[in-house]
Amino acid sequence: MPKIWAYGVSMARDMIDPPRVGPAHIAAALPMPVLLADGGNEIAFVNPAAEQFFAMGAGLLTRQNIADIVPFGSPLIQLMQQARERGAPVSERDVDLSTPRHGERIADLICTPMPDADGAVIVTLLERSLAQRLDRQLLHRGAVRSLHGMAAVLAHEIKNPLAGIRGAAQLLEESLTPSERSLTELICDESDRIRGLIDRMEAFGDTRSFPRGPVNIHEVLDRVVKVAQTSFAREVKFHEVFDPSLPPVLGDRDQLIQVFLNLVRNAADALPEQGGEITVTTGYRPGMRMSAGTAAGRLSLPLEVTVRDNGGGIPSDLLPYIFDPFVTTKPRGSGLGLALVAKIVGDHGGVVECESVPRKTMFRVLLPVVESGAGEELAEG
Ligand SMILES: Nc1ncnc2c1ncn2[C@@H]1O[C@H](COP(=O)(O)OP(=O)(O)OP(=O)(O)O)[C@@H](O)[C@H]1O
Ligand SMILES: [Mg+2]
Repeated sequence: MPKIWAYGVSMARDMIDPPRVGPAHIAAALPMPVLLADGGNEIAFVNPAAEQFFAMGAGLLTRQNIADIVPFGSPLIQLMQQARERGAPVSERDVDLSTPRHGERIADLICTPMPDADGAVIVTLLERSLAQRLDRQLLHRGAVRSLHGMAAVLAHEIKNPLAGIRGAAQLLEESLTPSERSLTELICDESDRIRGLIDRMEAFGDTRSFPRGPVNIHEVLDRVVKVAQTSFAREVKFHEVFDPSLPPVLGDRDQLIQVFLNLVRNAADALPEQGGEITVTTGYRPGMRMSAGTAAGRLSLPLEVTVRDNGGGIPSDLLPYIFDPFVTTKPRGSGLGLALVAKIVGDHGGVVECESVPRKTMFRVLLPVVESGAGEELAEG
């Protein structure tokens, strides 16, 4: 490899005629929009791709300020300032540059300060086309589909040892005090739950709807917190902020436990050794309506559950990918937790989203509630 690279460079040197190829030629040939703004954000230079992006000629653009061509309050202005202060490039993904004049625009931005140029900054945009965004979603679906085969193999391998674990817990139970017995009960209940899930995972590729019924979400969340407190989150302080008037969710209890156990597990993994806190809240948002993606049409999603932690947060460049399968930053992680969360919540006709800044990462799950007759209708799907 190094040899080829060296050869390429010397070829390039021989071929380029220095007086004919200057910086402006390079900027003009680049497919991505490039702008140069001075210390007051007045535009000093644009390349043809930028003219196209902003649907304005260079003559007009170079008489404007950056603030005039991006939406009010755009993070671009802030990013440019950050680049100046740090004296180093700053980038941000998925910045909304939509305006009534140019329509919907999402781009990744890079702001590079020019050294010794009175605060001048080069702005480079990489537009996210709708096609690219849809492509990624399709890719995601393909990857989830390939999980089905793996799920079948795993299911086969897990069932036998699980039966052994359950049997051993039952034997232990006889020699324990009543208070200790709650622990073996937990082992048995959880083994049964895993078995139930695996049975269903074997039919993962099956696209038929599963039967749903009314589920008490607070009972689900209490169980999740209890499991967490007795296993992976012993040092963590939990806060449960529940709205007691909440109606039942329309769904499958075991799958919902799986969703929140995954979210709480991730939260616990992200916490510092001391002072880690996880807050689980429920609430009712009557106005939320979403397309269910099925024949069921639009579904009301008024039930909101959030899982918040005060851990280190998710880096902004990772955030758009966390629901993809096999995306993990953990040495022993599989990256399947959130992919399954997204699948199960999606199967319920709900949505899951995430916001994260250091010390505050929040996953919000919106779910449908039971409405009269809706249970049977969806179960038939
Ligand atoms: N609450 C959180 N705080 C910080 N990072 C998080 C949080 N939740 C998820 N992440 C990030 O998202 C990645 C993907 O999470 P996911 O649950 O899909 O996989 P995993 O936890 O790495 O592995 P697995 O769940 O399969 O054991 C994690 O590796 C982590 O980097
Ligand atoms: Mg996980």
